[in-house]
Amino acid sequence: MNTEERRNILVTCGPGLKDYLIAEIEALGFEIVSSHIGSVVTRGSFIDCMKLNYCLRTAFSVLYLLREFRCGSPEALYKQISMVPWENIISPQEHFCVLSKVDTYTINHSTYPSMKVKDAIVDRIQRKMGDRPDSGSSRTGVVVNLFWKKDKAWVYLNTSGLKLSDRNYRKMPHKAPLRESLAAGVIMATEYDGSQDIVLPMCGSGTLAIEAALIAMNKPAGSLRSNFGFKHVKVFDKQVWGEIRNTIRKTIRKDGLQKRIIATDIDEQAIEAAKQNAKTAGVEQLIEFDVCDFADTEVPEGDGIVVINPEYGLRLGKLDQLEKDYKRIGDFYKNKCAGYTGYLLCGNKQLSVKIGLKASRRMVFYNGTIECRLLKYELYQGKKA
Ligand SMILES: C[S@@+](CC[C@H](N)C(=O)[O-])C[C@H]1O[C@@H](n2cnc3c(N)ncnc32)[C@H](O)[C@@H]1O
Repeated sequence: MNTEERRNILVTCGPGLKDYLIAEIEALGFEIVSSHIGSVVTRGSFIDCMKLNYCLRTAFSVLYLLREFRCGSPEALYKQISMVPWENIISPQEHFCVLSKVDTYTINHSTYPSMKVKDAIVDRIQRKMGDRPDSGSSRTGVVVNLFWKKDKAWVYLNTSGLKLSDRNYRKMPHKAPLRESLAAGVIMATEYDGSQDIVLPMCGSGTLAIEAALIAMNKPAGSLRSNFGFKHVKVFDKQVWGEIRNTIRKTIRKDGLQKRIIATDIDEQAIEAAKQNAKTAGVEQLIEFDVCDFADTEVPEGDGIVVINPEYGLRLGKLDQLEKDYKRIGDFYKNKCAGYTGYLLCGNKQLSVKIGLKASRRMVFYNGTIECRLLKYELYQGKKA
């Protein structure tokens, strides 16, 4: 495989994150070919995939196109997959995994197509090399993705392997933690860039605060993990990878922050977890943690950003108590955060209206399968002119 050959790259993300992913891909200098609810297509080489894996905050996976073809049956799938030079991609000593998404007239489950792809890969490598790699469900080695829709199929090399949203810093998750990629998207939606104070009451395990600190430092999300799918591919070059990281690391801000990141929670254990997680992410020195009721959180004078992600499910809290808390959040915003831009991330409309403020913007995100809104409030000082 030629590591410099430019091909389509499909970058997947959670629903609601596409626009932030587009902004990230463009900021890295890549063109946008097309976009869909949970993915963006760009173009680049296998080496570009390494760069995308290292930098992207809102992506799940970076998939490098190996082959696209017409496909009407499992037999045609086997034949087409056999044409990819797998012996140049997967060594017989490696382990690989096949992930399939299938939506055709004849087959509506992915097990059989996955098996066909696996057989085609193994048979070809056995034929060419006299030995074969093992396969299974673990995503820690080489990962191959098949998309088969009606009579068209695409096979990709999943250069991420494990999802990029698993950054590896959340050793202590605490209650209802946000996925790291979602937290990064929420911080990007607030337009925070480190040049403002940011206040994060009800911070739980600290995901929003940690993602804000990473953004403020311009520290690549991929610098927090060591395993990527591309590292298991035969053509992986350690030296090229080292050069990519060194170039990108030069842009990390190392001189600390002029502004403050304040994260609080009423639960001592949450703050303990958040501190540990921030330490693992290498940003603990940038975040001021405190245990307190959200209303007692210190809000620095002037302007800034305040983001709250309160509990919103009956699973976590009782509705009556939650309604009171939401009303108190409205009071906190009005009385203590004047001059700031306030945000509320909530998956329950019945509760979010209790805040009693008029949102100037509503942005849709998904926390797992739950649709939630990021509501924006302009918290004017005095009366709005
Ligand atoms: C939905 S969780 C936040 C999850 C967080 N975004 C994360 O990624 O881990 C809500 C948090 O609010 C905290 N909380 C509940 N009532 C509070 C109060 N009155 N003051 C401060 N924190 C409170 C809980 O302890 C919990 O950690």
